[in-house]
Amino acid sequence: MPEKDEKHVEVPLLEDYDATIPDSQPEADESLSPTPKSKPIPTLKRRALRLFIFCIWFYAVFMGSFYFFSFLGDQYDHTLDVLKTTALKTYGGITDTYQSITNPATREEVVDLMTELYELLAEMGYYDAAMIGRPPHSPGINRTLAAELEFSREAVEMMEMLPYLLQEEESLGWGGDNKFLLSGTFADLRDDGVLDFTRDPMFAIDDLSKGFDEDGGKYMRPDYICLMKLWTIDQENMGLQADPALKNIELEEGPGNMFSPENAASRLARDALRDYIHKFRTLEWIPGGNVNGTWEGDEYTRLYKENGWPESFNSTAFNIAREQWEEDDMARWDAEAPFQEVWKLDYWIQIALNDIDEKRRMIADVAAGMEIPPDKADREVYKQELQEEVKKRIESLPKLQAELEVAREVLKSIDPEVKRAREERMRKYGN
Ligand SMILES: *[C@@H]1O[C@H](CO)[C@@H](O)[C@H](O)[C@H]1NC(C)=O
Ligand SMILES: *[C@@H]1O[C@H](CO)[C@@H](O)[C@H](O)[C@H]1NC(C)=O
Ligand SMILES: *[C@@H]1O[C@H](CO)[C@@H](O)[C@H](O)[C@H]1NC(C)=O
Repeated sequence: MPEKDEKHVEVPLLEDYDATIPDSQPEADESLSPTPKSKPIPTLKRRALRLFIFCIWFYAVFMGSFYFFSFLGDQYDHTLDVLKTTALKTYGGITDTYQSITNPATREEVVDLMTELYELLAEMGYYDAAMIGRPPHSPGINRTLAAELEFSREAVEMMEMLPYLLQEEESLGWGGDNKFLLSGTFADLRDDGVLDFTRDPMFAIDDLSKGFDEDGGKYMRPDYICLMKLWTIDQENMGLQADPALKNIELEEGPGNMFSPENAASRLARDALRDYIHKFRTLEWIPGGNVNGTWEGDEYTRLYKENGWPESFNSTAFNIAREQWEEDDMARWDAEAPFQEVWKLDYWIQIALNDIDEKRRMIADVAAGMEIPPDKADREVYKQELQEEVKKRIESLPKLQAELEVAREVLKSIDPEVKRAREERMRKYGN
């Protein structure tokens, strides 16, 4: 292979893409996959999606491009629904963003931006600047393993060029949990386990012998590199955060392996990283996973500004103030316990009342001769069971109501300042 001038090497992946990704006219793919726009998810895909449920983090993939995968949550059925929708939306095809790539980032640009991002987070007091591991790395990427994993020479070189965060210490940032943003974490490709994992970040490979364009096969091509572990969460459904730039991108199901990054919503690594850096610098995002416009996010923003961000920032003073704020916030939570107690008892009583209604309706249905569940052999016995449950619920009410009265009494004598501050916070942020 001829030596290329490093400075002008484009991320080779994009060249591959240009060759493998169909143009906007789908004719060329007709033979590959005559996929109608909204066909149901095939069994294999469903199985793969179900797999997701047990894995709760993804990698964002950067190379020349930056790919995003939408995510899952913690409730099985709900998550499955979300995944089905998300899969149709996200793994559908090639985004306009992707189509518009005409000026891919060079490897050097991506390395520089990753370095800038790591340095910015250190500057923001999230971790000590000494924790940024810069190339040459010793030991570096495990080249034996990289070869086994079929990384290209260019990809290995790129991974050697990237900075990594030294993670020997238990506690990386103030959260102590290696959190990065959008609930993601840092990835250190010098770690064999992490490197290995970046070949199947979505836990989606069923059969290693299958090709890149088959469902269940490999989908991370030799030039694909993961730059960080990142959840990009479906915020509408899960109430969590995701890269705002990739929100609401409608995709159609594309040909080939549904897990191929080229089928996912994406943007250029350069654009994404510049955007991330900008969001941190302007305190729209706070290291550790908070965003502005939330109680925590806005409080951290205030602390940053009070301590001179960005012109004359004193990270020592900031971290002292931050730790104090976190302690105060815990104390606030304790002080607001009487509100939570009243809320909880109200809620339990409502649950009991709803259940009584529901069971009474069921009893009436049984009496009216409607079908009973197959595991209930005897109508009369079933009806008695229901009546027993109603009786128990009714008996539980006086105790709950007495407790609620006590809780309301306690709440009356709460510090008016606690009450005022809580109301103000709730007006602005809801709970
Ligand atoms: C590198 O990876 C190979 C293959 O997995 C493994 O056998 C070897 O022990 C690794 N080398 C180091 C230094 O960890
Ligand atoms: C968050 O910060 C950005 C940048 O300063 C600003 O444009 C945006 O309006 C803020 N959003 C909220 C909800 O405060
Ligand atoms: C930064 O804050 C710390 C703690 O308040 C203080 O001791 C130190 O002098 C400050 N540094 C500067 C440069 O102001």
